[in-house]
Amino acid sequence: MMYLKKLDVHGLRNLKGIQLLLSPGANLFYGQNGSGKTSLLEAIHLLGRGRSFRTRTLNPVINQEEGSCTVFGLLEKESITLPIGVSRSRQGDFQFRVNSQSINNASTLAETMPLLVLDSESFHLLDGGPKYRRQYIDWGVFHVEHQYRTVWQSFRRALKQRNSLLRHDRIDDAEMSVWDQEFVGLAEQVNNFREAYLQELIPKIQWVMSELSSMEGLEFKHYAGWDKTKSLADILVSDRPRDVLAKVTGHGPHRADLRVRFNKQSANDVLSRGQTKILVTAMQIAQGFLFHERTGCQCLYLLDDLPSELDLQHREKVGELLYRLGAQTFITGVIPEDVVSTWPKEGKQKSMFHVEHGGITPVEC
Ligand SMILES: Nc1ncnc2c1ncn2[C@@H]1O[C@H](COP(=O)(O)OP(=O)(O)O)[C@@H](O)[C@H]1O
Ligand SMILES: [Mg+2]
Repeated sequence: MMYLKKLDVHGLRNLKGIQLLLSPGANLFYGQNGSGKTSLLEAIHLLGRGRSFRTRTLNPVINQEEGSCTVFGLLEKESITLPIGVSRSRQGDFQFRVNSQSINNASTLAETMPLLVLDSESFHLLDGGPKYRRQYIDWGVFHVEHQYRTVWQSFRRALKQRNSLLRHDRIDDAEMSVWDQEFVGLAEQVNNFREAYLQELIPKIQWVMSELSSMEGLEFKHYAGWDKTKSLADILVSDRPRDVLAKVTGHGPHRADLRVRFNKQSANDVLSRGQTKILVTAMQIAQGFLFHERTGCQCLYLLDDLPSELDLQHREKVGELLYRLGAQTFITGVIPEDVVSTWPKEGKQKSMFHVEHGGITPVEC
């Protein structure tokens, strides 16, 4: 069991001094547009990943009248209470502390408090470019395979190196071949990790989908980033003139994708917005179940505006699954009844909060 027991937020967007005691189960937040619901989830995200899910730069996150924002949390992890804190100043100073020790790499952060997020951006899992689906797959591989991080980082370096060589005026063939060899070795490792993970993840998504809806005919197919009937080494050689012209490497795991089809058509072309939301929700729930199965750990779920575009029946099923999983869940929405009805009635561990003009107060539910 892992959950955030306490959360303090200062100077983050419109949130004034916020101090919350949280439930290990569901934490339900309701309030009007612009009241601060997404900002609260953003605060938790900052604590878990060192960055916002809304902006790349952190300055817009800091309250206009403040010089810095801070988020502090008490994380209960295997009966140990871990204080974690993050603060960021307008000048760009960034501090992250776990158990009063300074941490300066994002992956240690991500391991401390793994998060799964569902918000308006999540639609990009289907309607966005392959980058979103690669990030989705890699979240899972990172969290279940400890060797993956180093392999992935080495691959990124090899790719950068090869691309910078492609930009030289005169390319030394021998040097290029050496780099190609290195590139291919790492590319295959990255791909093997992803394939192995997807072999478990895809059936999980199918299972969650069957629990959530009666939609049938979904297919998921991993594209490695190159034609797998050929060797990547041969492709690099035959494509080199094209790569040189483009000045980037055209094939490899950095071009991978997870192709989603519904009744033999691209899912993005045929699914309604509501169906898309069900599917991306199922994809996130599947990751959480697999993560729990593989590691015995739980992640935290941030579900922003869950009720929008989901009817009561689907919301209840989403809530039921998350309740069964046992992960701590944060759900926001505009209408209190819509948010409350998401969580199973028998689910005792739940707290409800009213968000209003940047203030948050606990209410009965
Ligand atoms: N840097 C900032 N300083 C102060 N207020 C901000 C800042 N950034 C955004 N806001 C305001 O914070 C409010 C809360 O936004 P948000 O959390 O997205 O609301 P909700 O999700 O409840 O609709 C908005 O009214 C927005 O204008
Ligand atoms: Mg919002």
